[in-house]
Amino acid sequence: MCLGNICRSPLAEAVFNHHVKNMNLEGILSSDSCGTSNYHIGDPPDPRTVRNANKNGVTIDHKGRQLSWRDLDNYDLVLAMDLQNHRNILSLANAAHESKIKYLRDFDPEGPGDVPDPYYGDEKKFQHVFEIVDRSVRELIASLVKK
Ligand code: 4NP
Repeated sequence: MCLGNICRSPLAEAVFNHHVKNMNLEGILSSDSCGTSNYHIGDPPDPRTVRNANKNGVTIDHKGRQLSWRDLDNYDLVLAMDLQNHRNILSLANAAHESKIKYLRDFDPEGPGDVPDPYYGDEKKFQHVFEIVDRSVRELIASLVKK
């Protein structure tokens, strides 16, 4: 879950699904992504995110959509990219949803924090985001497999 659903969260979704496929866990684990804003509904991912993901061997196929309370009902885990999005998610949540709303970087082996917004950054920033997302998603999958 990010703001626009064109940079960070579609990347996290694609990286998650990429590793799930490589680990033969399709049908067991799945992910989707959305944005907390309505800025990019129906839009493809940012071309810089697509290029960077491809460079790292990951394919992205997604159309921007906005978070709804139904997502909070339907999913077991809802992971925010940063504090602002965590707040936005909580504003839609009821008490029963709260325990499944976390940060992606709660799973980062290098420590928690925000996944920085790369929107106004350069390729270095997009690569930095890729590396945070990739190591966090690997750890997330490992923790789900253990369950
Ligand atoms: P994202 O990045 O939240 O990672 O998809 C952004 C995309 C668009 C905007 C901000 C952040 N925007 O302001 O349009």
